[in-house]
Amino acid sequence: MAEITFSKDKKLIFSAIQPTGTFTLGNYLGAVKNWGPLQEEFNCIYAVADLHSITVKQDPVKLRQNSLQAYALMMACGLAPERSILFFQSHNRHHAELSWVLSCSTQFGELSRMTQFKDKSQKHADNINAGLFTYPVLMAADILLYNADFVPIGADQKQHLELARNIAQRFNQRYGDFFTLPDPYIPKVGAKVMSLQEPTKKMSKSDENPNACILILDEKDAIIRKFKRAVTDSDTEVRYAEGKDGINNLMTIYSIVTGRSFEEIEKDFSGKGYGDFKLAVGEAVADHLEPVRTEFSRLINDKAYLKKCYTEGAEKAMMISQRNLSKVYRKVGFVDAR
Ligand code: TYM
Repeated sequence: MAEITFSKDKKLIFSAIQPTGTFTLGNYLGAVKNWGPLQEEFNCIYAVADLHSITVKQDPVKLRQNSLQAYALMMACGLAPERSILFFQSHNRHHAELSWVLSCSTQFGELSRMTQFKDKSQKHADNINAGLFTYPVLMAADILLYNADFVPIGADQKQHLELARNIAQRFNQRYGDFFTLPDPYIPKVGAKVMSLQEPTKKMSKSDENPNACILILDEKDAIIRKFKRAVTDSDTEVRYAEGKDGINNLMTIYSIVTGRSFEEIEKDFSGKGYGDFKLAVGEAVADHLEPVRTEFSRLINDKAYLKKCYTEGAEKAMMISQRNLSKVYRKVGFVDAR
């Protein structure tokens, strides 16, 4: 039987990622890269949000492959199953159960205001399903089920987190204090990595132009090629300034992977053209991701080990969530099952 090694004195972190293909550089810099270091200071629970992913059409064979890949990638990015709880959301049925209860504390109007719902319903106009609409309630359930204190996410998930707080608050007012109000944990730099082709839009795996998005398993030459083609501006100076969205984005990415400040980058590249800078960014990103790619190839070939990790992960997650869900059911007024 799996055992939880969490310390009672530490605050709890929860976050998740959808298995809709290899992680993008945006997923990585905005979220997953930050999850590993948090394991030092916090008790951490991280999930592959496979339930969320079927709100848009998925090929079942690909979804299973992508889900396993996402799990192995989380580990390759530094998450350790001995320290954190790592599991598939669909392996813990309490998420869906709490989601139902919370949906009865969520207003239609609130969900209608979610910008991601509006964007996605435009993009998938032929499939505006109920799951797409109630998606943020399931996300609230993910977080509240463990009474997480902090949720490390990119800027695009902030509105969903605010909704989760509102739902928790409403539940607490109605049934008595129970849920912790979770705080977002959004990085100061890299919270919104932009598309390399349209730098006013966020980098996204659903972008149709493959040059717009770096996938963290891309080969070095593909990474360099995409950065070389990155859209910039007609200026020539590597400088962080308003209106230079493309360069600002490249400087942000370069700064995170090299640890150089914007001032240092401006000095390093003064008198050099955009071409030199783009090449440097491409090389730095490829080198930074190399260990992730290597570790990923090792892990994805060890299916038995992965299975052991995610089975134990789900057992541990359920030990925590079972207690919390039972308390919620009592508060709501359901008859005790045992
Ligand atoms: P998802 O799978 O779209 O993205 C995973 C994480 O990556 C961040 N992210 C970005 N950060 C910076 N720049 C970008 N271009 C960029 N693109 C994505 C996201 O903000 C996110 O943190 N609904 C969530 C998954 C989820 C979840 C949860 C998250 C399900 N339950 C509970 C937190 C807590 C989602 O679709 O993320």
